[in-house]
Amino acid sequence: MTGMLDDALMLEKIRAIAEDLSPRLIDIRRHLHAHPELSGHEHQTAAYAAGVLSSCGLPVQESVGRTGLVVELEGSGQDPRRLAVRTDMDALPIEERSDLAFASRQPGLMHACGHDVHTTVGLGTAMVFAELGVPLPGNVRFLFQPAEEISQGARWMVAAGVMEGVDAILGVHVFPTIPGGKVGIRYGALTAAADDIEVTIRGESGHGARPHEAIDAIWIAAQVITTLQQAISRTQNSLHPLVITFGQIKGGRAPNVIADQVTLSGTVRCLHPETYATVPDWIEHWVQNVCQTYGATYELNYRRGVPSVQNDIALTQIVQAAAESALGKDVIQTLLEPSLGAEDFSVYLEHAPGMMFRLGVGLEDQPNYPLHHPKFVVNERSLLTGVVTMAAAVYRYWV
Ligand code: NI
Repeated sequence: MTGMLDDALMLEKIRAIAEDLSPRLIDIRRHLHAHPELSGHEHQTAAYAAGVLSSCGLPVQESVGRTGLVVELEGSGQDPRRLAVRTDMDALPIEERSDLAFASRQPGLMHACGHDVHTTVGLGTAMVFAELGVPLPGNVRFLFQPAEEISQGARWMVAAGVMEGVDAILGVHVFPTIPGGKVGIRYGALTAAADDIEVTIRGESGHGARPHEAIDAIWIAAQVITTLQQAISRTQNSLHPLVITFGQIKGGRAPNVIADQVTLSGTVRCLHPETYATVPDWIEHWVQNVCQTYGATYELNYRRGVPSVQNDIALTQIVQAAAESALGKDVIQTLLEPSLGAEDFSVYLEHAPGMMFRLGVGLEDQPNYPLHHPKFVVNERSLLTGVVTMAAAVYRYWV
């Protein structure tokens, strides 16, 4: 790489800058943690992040995709490619019970999914390159997106054009079951596709004592639920997970009146692209068969949510090698299993290949609560690891 320091020196420099920034990163993260905002309302968060970026001399575009931010880091022109780095900024409607000195000051709102850490990693990475003073061979576009928790923010950002001219994208998400300061790596599927489903079954009302004169929508709804759960085990490839959860059921008017209508609402999760493509028709097939058999009609509303995050193999290799070179081989924790949770990072992957790594935030001597728990706490060692990993991966992308 002409005009650039050699690899080992460069990684050492990135790490040294990030180490110097560490106290500032902790302050930033604590400020964000104390001031959580709901999805789509990240006004103060975005203004604060924009202030941090501007103070480092970085040009910030505000109000992109509603409350998102974009920062363009121009390269030397040696490589025409553009790499995007995406983080998210929103919090959750959860009352924090962590007892931290910098706990949420907003009643009923909490950074319980670590997006305060993600935003800090994005800011820290941009700060490292601002400090480095040597242009990278190619261009980097930092994306600070709103509304990940409602699976909308990435779509707003993409609609605003942030993926135009992007060749690859990197992302990060914290994980409390990985020790603080470690980096979780997975090749291929990382998170599941998550779609919404609503099935309305219509029968015919009647007297509870004379079911033969009616068509019982509750009984038929029970058949639909049972049939779908059994059909997964008998007709779907067992190596390609599929989860259908009906978390809501509505129907009936009185204990002694046969229900003429039942609505089932649920979520559909899968990992394999073939399952994703075929599952809406597969569900309809069973719903139609059951309803026809028992004389009911139905309405099926299948709404696509977000696709599965599939980590690109070459980019995953880059991130893993960069983290190992900058932080040592021990930093990597290979993730054997994907998650059936969802991440709207996948929406960007419809436009360019990408890689999301898991950032370990587990504490050593304290209980670790899961993501979205009111007592969720992160190990702040992860801030340095996250920034060094992201910055090293960005640097290594061009090599
Ligand atoms: Ni999250």
